[in-house]
Amino acid sequence: MTSTAIAVTGLRKAFGDKVVLDGLDFDVAAGSVFSMLGPNGAGKTTTVNVLATLLKADAGTVRVAGHDVATETRQVRAAIGVTGQFAAVDELLSGRENLQLMADLKRVRSGDQVVGRLLERFDLVEAADKMSSTYSGGMRRKLDLAMTLVGSPRIIFLDEPTTGLDPRSRRTMWGIVRELVADGTTIFLTTQYLEEADQLADQVVVLDQGRLVAQGTPEELKRQVPGTHVRLRFADLDELDAAARVLAGATRDDQELILRMPSDGQSRSLRALLDRLDEHDINAQEFSVHTPDLDDVFLALTGRPSAEAVAQ
Ligand SMILES: Nc1ncnc2c1ncn2[C@@H]1O[C@H](COP(=O)(O)OP(=O)(O)OP(=O)(O)O)[C@@H](O)[C@H]1O
Ligand SMILES: [Mg+2]
Repeated sequence: MTSTAIAVTGLRKAFGDKVVLDGLDFDVAAGSVFSMLGPNGAGKTTTVNVLATLLKADAGTVRVAGHDVATETRQVRAAIGVTGQFAAVDELLSGRENLQLMADLKRVRSGDQVVGRLLERFDLVEAADKMSSTYSGGMRRKLDLAMTLVGSPRIIFLDEPTTGLDPRSRRTMWGIVRELVADGTTIFLTTQYLEEADQLADQVVVLDQGRLVAQGTPEELKRQVPGTHVRLRFADLDELDAAARVLAGATRDDQELILRMPSDGQSRSLRALLDRLDEHDINAQEFSVHTPDLDDVFLALTGRPSAEAVAQ
């Protein structure tokens, strides 16, 4: 039997007359990675703040580690660690001192050893005694996460932990998340990166304007969008017209000069398609086989491309 680490029902929150969370319901299984995806302003940080007892909800029930966040704040706080969207590092202290301070606050036994191990794990040994104001953004994020891990909380909230990290640091972070989960820790992760949710999450919810517009495993979400298709780009409208006449079932995008043709992606059907174009002396300038990814899910569900897709 899997137990529930976080249970949310009917969660609502407004700032003034602006409704930011509009009735959220979800459960997070203990020992899993649960990812909340959403564009800027969707309500991700607000959700984290309510779940982490930093903000009071207007309505609904939230239980974290079996305790009500509204009435059993102390018990909830004892069970969780939070890495906020903006690093909580004290600039005037070194990395080691920041960690030591956290160990003292949480009354961790053998604090020195815990701090030493965390510095190693996050590749911060060399910088350990430098003032953290001299750290790069990525190093600061890593220190921030290391501080969250002091005291080994069973449930960890990570609010956009890899935003602004280079690919290598992002992978380090992913590795650490995987290790934590292997040890039975529950991770609640918000992100704008669909690839990150795809890589790490057991369950994904997509939040848009304070509402959950989808939930499921990454695979289930991908199944909700149009399947594999072939994408053909042509030099001009005449060529596109000609191709559209011979390829029944294709959908066209006149502006981009693209035809999309559903396909199983197998070599035999791809060859048949290309032969058909050849027979009519039609040339496509570009030809690609497209398998749906979470970016497509995002676009299909929210009508907007993800931050990642825009950046590409
Ligand atoms: N303290 C506050 N007072 C008023 N409005 C707020 C407050 N905090 C957040 N909001 C508003 O609530 C909405 C959701 O904000 P939130 O920070 O939860 O979004 P987010 O999904 O974390 O976005 P991002 O990806 O940019 O971090 C936004 O419209 C924001 O302007
Ligand atoms: Mg946020």
